[in-house]
Amino acid sequence: MSDKRGLLSEDAIAKYGAELADRGTVLIAPDTLFTKDELTRIDQLQSDIPEEQVRKGDAGDCHNVFVKRVRLDHAGHNPSNVNGTASAQIIELLERKERVSALRRIFGASSEYVIRRCQMHRMPPGSFVGIHLDAESDPDFEYSVIVQLATEFEGGEFVVYPPDRKLQVFRPHLGAVLITTCRFWHEVRQVHAGERRSLVYFCSKFGGANRRIVEDHAARVRSAS
Ligand SMILES: [Fe+2]
Repeated sequence: MSDKRGLLSEDAIAKYGAELADRGTVLIAPDTLFTKDELTRIDQLQSDIPEEQVRKGDAGDCHNVFVKRVRLDHAGHNPSNVNGTASAQIIELLERKERVSALRRIFGASSEYVIRRCQMHRMPPGSFVGIHLDAESDPDFEYSVIVQLATEFEGGEFVVYPPDRKLQVFRPHLGAVLITTCRFWHEVRQVHAGERRSLVYFCSKFGGANRRIVEDHAARVRSAS
């Protein structure tokens, strides 16, 4: 029986939620969590945001990806939007009530989630995101939500390494949404042709300052001497 009251039927939410709980990762079909119009709107808004090339992750991991920042989550600080109106409008779109409600139920949570960090990724040929753990950027990250914005590319597979089963390889379609726990290692393999683009945001029940402890190299040298 299908009870279609929101973005997804109750049946679909239950199915996706069970898969996320069991496997740590789930792929949501296109045209469900985001409409085509919403994807177009995100594309329009992101064109106003400056882009930077990132070659090093928060935990010293190795990347080669172009990033547009929407919401930052630096250690010791509360999450905060950057890059003005365009970012605020992207966050507003992500936080539409029905989408937040559908995601919360897929996460299996009884309480509200907040978006702690949000960014756009552009990956032309040669780009990759090296293997890393999202929870190393913020220990309160619980789930990452990855919205696929372009699929005209080769390579660029999203690979998850669950600790207790074999790796999972994803090639999401345009508009599909990949949700994965921030506690599994993962990577994006090198893009060989075309351009891979996605919107990525990280969800948590904790809304306060980022509790990541940044290793203070100078302090360690002082205490060791
Ligand atoms: Fe990641």
